[in-house]
Amino acid sequence: MQPKTAFLSGVATCIVACSGAYAVDLTKAYESPNASKIIKKDLLKPAKKYTMPKTCKLEDPAAIERGKYIFHNLNGEDAKETPPEGLSKFIETKDKSGKVTKTAKQYGNCVACHNIEGAKGGGNIGPDLTTYRANFVDTKVRNTNFVYQKIADARIDNPKTHMTINLTSGLFSPSEICDLTAYVMATK
Ligand code: HEC
Repeated sequence: MQPKTAFLSGVATCIVACSGAYAVDLTKAYESPNASKIIKKDLLKPAKKYTMPKTCKLEDPAAIERGKYIFHNLNGEDAKETPPEGLSKFIETKDKSGKVTKTAKQYGNCVACHNIEGAKGGGNIGPDLTTYRANFVDTKVRNTNFVYQKIADARIDNPKTHMTINLTSGLFSPSEICDLTAYVMATK
């Protein structure tokens, strides 16, 4: 009977082939990374105190313009607008083999939590930063170093902050923190 023979020969083939497959050591076929090491790498570094660098040019219109772009730009990938000079729209990362991958830099997200002059859909998780200079700086409630520190690492002022940690995390560079400080402090 033809079908039965075919079936049996199929079984026979499987006994040979399948047992061969089971003999392979599958533990080598997939990676088993050390999860605790990976988690450690992703953990936020401890809170760090900063002093605003002397190179920060708070009155420089170009710095204020860059700070404005960073502040309002929710998502680098969706942003059609070209960033002002001095900011790059992409970050390049190199893997072990030297292959370079370009990914859109995620600028800002300040506006997700803060309202400020001209904000489109400013969030209310953080305080409203509208007329910040007149309300908080001219009145001496806040100074430049406080603002720089807050944007760099908000945990020094409030260990339980909900604000993003921008400098200690490497999300932004010191000069980008200068730009943001310049923008928040500027009269708009
Ligand atoms: C996830 C929400 C969130 C994001 C995103 C965020 N902030 Fe904040 N921010 C806060 C909260 C909440 C506070 C109130 C103080 C605190 O808890 O640290 C604050 C406080 C501040 C203050 C101090 C105001 C004052 O004088 O008391 C400044 C300045 C500031 N943020 C700027 C920024 C900038 C610039 C960005 C973008 C890089 C940003 N924030 C992103 C939530 C946020």
